[in-house]
Amino acid sequence: MKPIDQELTSWLLDHARGLWGAEIEESLFQVRPTNKPEFGDYQCNAAMGLAKRLKTAPRVVAERLIADRELHPALEKIELAGPGFINLFLKRAWLLERVVALLESPSVGLHPVEDPKTVVLDFSSPNVAKPMHIGHLRSTNLGESLRRILTTLGHKVYGDNHLGDWGTQFGLLILGYRNFLDRMAFEEDPVAELERVYVRSYEASRADDAYLDQARSELVRLQQGDPDNLRLWEEFVAVSMREFDRIYRRLDIHFDMVRGESAYRGMLADVVGLLKEKGIARESEGATVVFFDDENLAPLIVQKKDGGFNYATTDLATIRYRVEELKADQIVYVTDERQQLHFRQIFAVARMLGFDVPLEHVWFGLMRLPEGTFSTRQGNVIKLEKLLDEAEARALVMAKASSDGEIGEDELCEIARVVGLGSVKYADLSQNRQTLVTFEWDRMLSLEGNTAPYLQYTYARIRSIWRKHQTGEGGADADWRKEAEQASVFEEKAELDLAKALLQFSEVVERAGRLFRPNVIADYLFELCQFYNALYQNVMILKASPEARARRLLLCEAVSRTIKEGLRLMGIETVERM
Ligand code: ARG
Repeated sequence: MKPIDQELTSWLLDHARGLWGAEIEESLFQVRPTNKPEFGDYQCNAAMGLAKRLKTAPRVVAERLIADRELHPALEKIELAGPGFINLFLKRAWLLERVVALLESPSVGLHPVEDPKTVVLDFSSPNVAKPMHIGHLRSTNLGESLRRILTTLGHKVYGDNHLGDWGTQFGLLILGYRNFLDRMAFEEDPVAELERVYVRSYEASRADDAYLDQARSELVRLQQGDPDNLRLWEEFVAVSMREFDRIYRRLDIHFDMVRGESAYRGMLADVVGLLKEKGIARESEGATVVFFDDENLAPLIVQKKDGGFNYATTDLATIRYRVEELKADQIVYVTDERQQLHFRQIFAVARMLGFDVPLEHVWFGLMRLPEGTFSTRQGNVIKLEKLLDEAEARALVMAKASSDGEIGEDELCEIARVVGLGSVKYADLSQNRQTLVTFEWDRMLSLEGNTAPYLQYTYARIRSIWRKHQTGEGGADADWRKEAEQASVFEEKAELDLAKALLQFSEVVERAGRLFRPNVIADYLFELCQFYNALYQNVMILKASPEARARRLLLCEAVSRTIKEGLRLMGIETVERM
C-alpha cells in the first residue's frame, strides 16, 4: 500500500505535468498533513512555486490544477484557500477501507521503498580487550534500530560490527599480559583484567624507554604473524567477543557480519600505494600524509614514520572492500560525535579515490547516566549490565505494584524484563540523537509521558479489551474480519483522528529510515497512543452499539499492531498484559 501522501502527490503531479510539461519537479508537490481541520486533512502548496515559473498568480495555477477533474477516490472534496493553497479532505468510507486494508497487510501497511539499495550499516564496533562503554551502547541500540528499519523498508542491509581488533594497543597488551597478568582475576573477569593489564603496561612504557621498545617489537612480531603473539591476540578477541555477545543477546542485537579491523590488515599497504600513485598522499617528515584543499580538514596520516598504519587507513581499506566486494550503494557509520572529523577526512579521501557512494556519518551526542551510580568514564561492560539489571529490578517493583495478584511470579519477571530493557532503549532512541541524553529512572519508567512503559501499557490495555470482547458477547472466535463486515463509517472526531494517524505509519517509517532517526517513529507512536487514549476516554468501546463497537474494535486492533511493529523497529518488545 502506497502511503496516502505519496499517492496524492503523484495524483497532483501527474496532472500538472500533463498541463505544463514533464519537467515539473516532484519536490514542488509535497502533499503534507495539515495541522488544522479547517484546512482539510492534507495540503499542497505547489501553486506558489509553480506560479513563479509560469509567471501567473498562484491562485490561477491552483485553480487550473483542480478544475474539471474527477476526484481521487480517497477524497471527499478539494478546496482552494488563501493565495493558492490546495486543501484536500479525505473521504470517511475510504478511511475505513484503508484501516481494514492495514489489517490485511502483514506489516500494518508498511510500504517497501521503490529503489531498494545495498546498505552497509557499521554499528556497535567496540574495541577488543577494552570494556564496551556507554557510547557503544548507544551505537548498538541506534544501529540495531536502523538495521531493522532499513531492512523492513526493503533495503539489502549488511549490519557490520567493525570491531576494533587490530591496533597499536596490542603490543602493550601482549607485553603486559606476559608480565602482569593475574590468572585468577583473568578467569573471573577477563576483559576487566585485560584492561587493568593494559593500563599497567602503558604506565611501564611511560617510565621506561626500553619497555616501550619491547612493546613496539611485540606489535611488529604480531603484525608479521608470529604464532605466539597471534595466539594471544586470538585469545583477547575471543574473551572480548564472549562478553560483547552476552550484551548483544540480552539486548536482542543482530549483525549480518562481524568483520573487525583485522580483516583488512592485508589491504593496508595497497591502499597507501594507491594513494601515493594517484598523488593523493605524499611523504612528509617520514610519514605518508594526505593534505586537503579544504583548510577545515587537518592533514591525515595514512602511514606512520615507523611504517605502521592507522585507524583511518583501515577505514579506507574497509570502504574499498564494501564498495568492491559487497557492492554497497551506501555506507552508514554509527558512532558518537567525537569521530566527526575522522569521518569527514576519510570521506574526503574516498572521494579522491573515486568512490562515489553516499557515505553517511550518523553521529550521536553523549549520554549521561544516573547521577552517582554511573559515570561515563567507568561505563564499562559490568556497569552496562548493572544498568540493565537495575532497569529490570525497578520495572519489577512497578509491575508488582500495579498487578492485583492475578499475574504469577514468572510472568511478572518477564514483564519486568520487557519493560525494563524497553525503557532503557526507548530513553535513548526517542530523543533526537544529537542531543545529550540524561537517564532519569523515574521519568523513563513512568507510565505517563513519552516512555516505553506508556506505549507498552497502551498496547497491553488494548489487548485486554480484545480478550474481554472474545470471551464476552463477541464470542470466542470474535475477530477483526467479522467486525469489519459490521462496521459503518467513522464518525467521531476521536475515530477520525486515530484512523488518519494510523495511515501515516508507513510515511513515518520511511522518513525515519531516510533521516536515520528512530525518534521519528517514537514521536509518532506517542501521538498515536494519545489519540487512542482520547478515544478510550471519550467513547464507549465494548458497550457501544454493534456498528460503533465494530469500527472501534478495528481501530483498536490496528493501533495495537502498529504499536507492536513500531516498537519492534526500535528493538523493543511488548507483553500481552501488564
Ligand atoms: N572501534 C571504534 C571505537 O570504539 C568505532 C569504529 C567505528 N567504525 C568505523 N568504521 N570506524 O571508537
